[in-house]
Amino acid sequence: MKPMKLKDGVTKIGAVHFERRLFDSLIPLPDGTSYNAYLIEGSEKIALIDTVDPMKIEVLIDQLKDVQKIDYIVSNHSEQDHSGGIPFVLEKYPDAKVVCTPKAKAFLMDLLHISEDKIITVEDNETISLGGKTLRFIHAPWVHWPETMFTYLEEDNILFTCDFLGSHLATSKLFAEDECHVYNSAKRYYAEIMMPFRNFVAKNLEKIKDLKIDYIAPSHGPVYNRPQFIFDAYNSWVYDEPKNIVVIPYVTMHGSVKAMVDYLTAALSQKGVVVKPFDLTVTDLGELAMSLVDAATIVVGTPTVLAGAHPQVIYATYLANALKPKTKFLSIVGSYSWGGKAIDQLSSMITNLKVEVIPPVFIKGLPKEEDYKLLDELADNIVKKHEKANIK
Ligand code: FEO
Repeated sequence: MKPMKLKDGVTKIGAVHFERRLFDSLIPLPDGTSYNAYLIEGSEKIALIDTVDPMKIEVLIDQLKDVQKIDYIVSNHSEQDHSGGIPFVLEKYPDAKVVCTPKAKAFLMDLLHISEDKIITVEDNETISLGGKTLRFIHAPWVHWPETMFTYLEEDNILFTCDFLGSHLATSKLFAEDECHVYNSAKRYYAEIMMPFRNFVAKNLEKIKDLKIDYIAPSHGPVYNRPQFIFDAYNSWVYDEPKNIVVIPYVTMHGSVKAMVDYLTAALSQKGVVVKPFDLTVTDLGELAMSLVDAATIVVGTPTVLAGAHPQVIYATYLANALKPKTKFLSIVGSYSWGGKAIDQLSSMITNLKVEVIPPVFIKGLPKEEDYKLLDELADNIVKKHEKANIK
């Protein structure tokens, strides 16, 4: 991708990774991703904000071929998809200094073996002048590592947020023009990366709310030339009450759990609840994570394997617990042939979730008439809980 001018003296560089399909060996990337870096040229000094994942370092180095000097490499976040290129840039510009928070200094030394004398730490709200371009550093811890910060370019009202407000979206466009598409990618990103830190997301949104911002320039996905779009989205994901939605992640082996899930889906749907069943054997976990942003209730569906829940159900339950959604209620449906401890096992795995557990429905074999009645009761119970909690 060619460098793209954002404002006079402000250029978006970095790499668009269209073909990448997995991040952190964990997160699906249906739309690829990008590692955005930004070159800020003042009358006296030049700064590079963030770098790229080392697997795309040749793109960044090529984009810098006509840049004679870099004085500062600002590291807003130490995770290697942004910081991993720093040693290569330092090799090209040995006089450059890396600018980061005090916490990030230790990370950069540990993760990348950057030597201490190359690093300058900045306090919250400290500034560096490049000559007509002033960088203000805003500490923004825990979105999503403890060392994260934003950089605000005062003269141009641009906020560089690195991961925060970003999206795993590979695009050749500079700006978030197709807001519908970007909304989906940003929501997926929020669900997977930021949701576990919702309280810190809220604190950092509050911290920047009075800044005059014309552009939000994240280090993944397109730049927001209408910042209110992404602020509105984040405010809704962070602050809104959960919606009248039941998410059902499940696995079925011989059809019993599927019959239960289908019946429960129909019963809840008839009562006006939006139901999102996910067969975990074919589910993109990012889709599941996104659905948890708004769901009032999770119903986990599992068969019994080796006396416990199915391993893929255990994995999904572990992830849901780690993502800490706003969900208010949880139940389990399942089937066994001769016994098992799936309910106890899954119940012990949701310690992060502030949920009320609705009595599970755990049956023997294929559901019978009396089992369907239990599922009707579960559907009634969920609807009543939603009504009582004023969930709409
Ligand atoms: Fe895009 Fe936390 O790295």
